[in-house]
Amino acid sequence: MLNMYRLNMKCLALNFLLSISLFSWSFETCEARYSVYWRGNRRSIAEGKTSGTFSVLDYGAKGDGTSDDTKAFEDAWKEACKVAASTLLVPSGSTFLVGPVSFLGKDCKENIVFLLDGKIIAPTSSSAWGSGLLQWIEFKSLKGITIKGKGVIDGRGSVWWNKSPDYDPADESESITSNDTMVEAQLGTEMPRTKPTALRFYGSNGVTVSGITIQNSPQTHLKFDSCISIQVSDFTTSSPGDSPNTDGIHLQNSQDAVIYRSKLACGDDCISIQTGCSNIYIHDVDCGPGHGISIGGLGKENTKACVSNITVRDVTMHETTNGVRIKSWQGGSGSVKQVMFSNIQVSEVANPIIIDQYYCDGGGCRNQTSAVAVSNINYINIKGTYTKEPVRFACSDSLPCTGISLSTIELKPATGKASLLDPFCWEAHGELKTKTLPPIQCLKTDKSTGGASQAC
Ligand SMILES: *[C@@H]1O[C@H](CO)[C@@H](O)[C@H](O)[C@H]1NC(C)=O
Ligand SMILES: *[C@@H]1O[C@H](CO)[C@@H](O)[C@H](O)[C@H]1NC(C)=O
Ligand SMILES: *[C@@H]1O[C@H](CO)[C@@H](O)[C@H](O)[C@H]1NC(C)=O
Repeated sequence: MLNMYRLNMKCLALNFLLSISLFSWSFETCEARYSVYWRGNRRSIAEGKTSGTFSVLDYGAKGDGTSDDTKAFEDAWKEACKVAASTLLVPSGSTFLVGPVSFLGKDCKENIVFLLDGKIIAPTSSSAWGSGLLQWIEFKSLKGITIKGKGVIDGRGSVWWNKSPDYDPADESESITSNDTMVEAQLGTEMPRTKPTALRFYGSNGVTVSGITIQNSPQTHLKFDSCISIQVSDFTTSSPGDSPNTDGIHLQNSQDAVIYRSKLACGDDCISIQTGCSNIYIHDVDCGPGHGISIGGLGKENTKACVSNITVRDVTMHETTNGVRIKSWQGGSGSVKQVMFSNIQVSEVANPIIIDQYYCDGGGCRNQTSAVAVSNINYINIKGTYTKEPVRFACSDSLPCTGISLSTIELKPATGKASLLDPFCWEAHGELKTKTLPPIQCLKTDKSTGGASQAC
């Protein structure tokens, strides 16, 4: 970035000198954007900040909500990609129907801004999705990419949500091949089984998401995979509490992320932190409806999972199934360590505090001895109301949880809720730094080191 800036300034200085001698001269070997600068925005030049703007409207986008604007977005990206710190503009006042699209950055300049002030909607016809795709809008292999603005990305997910989870398109096509008319009719309405994430960043360094809303995603709203240095702020997700698998933000194999001032309402985890994540800082987030903030499920199918240095603070949760949760499958390896949950306000949350090393989505999991080790997990100032079980630490027999620390825990039954469960612990080791409400008597306060040193 610094180099780019220097380059700009050199080019600029040259342009400036030449302009003095030759008033309206434009220096061709500096990219054309400088003459745009020159005419349009001297202040920006002085600050070295902005660059060319590429509006999708100039590349043929209709923005009428029904014409397919995918190609216009691709074409605008192709040009923006060539110019460092350029802006791809999706202007306000228009709705753009955009199909599955990848903005690839391998050969792009750095620090491109995707300025989203308008609305982008997903196609709802199955033909746009082929046999199923993992994501709708993808940014890949970029150095410095920002999506910001007041705009909305709407996945129009309701056409996907009603599908039963074990729907198998292979079965269906067999049963309908006897009548071609019917095949056509079905293909026109049935969405593929694989549901796309609305917006995914992959393999990028320096990703910023700010201001925008993603709503009604068919599946996860915003996903980061194999990214470094992520900043998400003033971000909103909105989808119904009963929409299946619609995580708000999903992080995997990513490091150095900060997520703050965001409002996440969805049908699954508000934030999900998966294997390969470290140095994640989440604060000032409102979660609900949803399933809370989760680390895991880790270690599925005997895989190794490594998660460390996660801080979640100043979060409000309302009508969520879980509050702050760590979940791992039996049979995994690796570890979760150095986690801090603080200043969490829960309201009508079923399980505010939960560690589950017996996670089993779908049932039929057998007991296994290996596990993802869980250690150094801190809970400070967790308050509010619960509707089921205030605290649950279900840890592995062979690798007990260690270093669980609780301080200032005040959890009360939600009004009208009787016969709720007591705190539960199994092989959970740690300490109570203060008295808790309700009292937690089941925590083992010896100094077991358990699986704390399990390699990662
Ligand atoms: C095929 O299905 C369509 C629509 O369900 C129906 O109108 C038509 O009669 C069927 N044709 C045959 C040959 O069964
Ligand atoms: C933990 O993560 C924070 C960011 O949340 C970072 O500032 C800090 O340096 C990290 N600590 C270690 C030991 O890596
Ligand atoms: C697995 O282990 C847990 C804890 O020891 C026990 O409660 C549970 O019954 C076991 N399940 C099976 C299927 O053996």
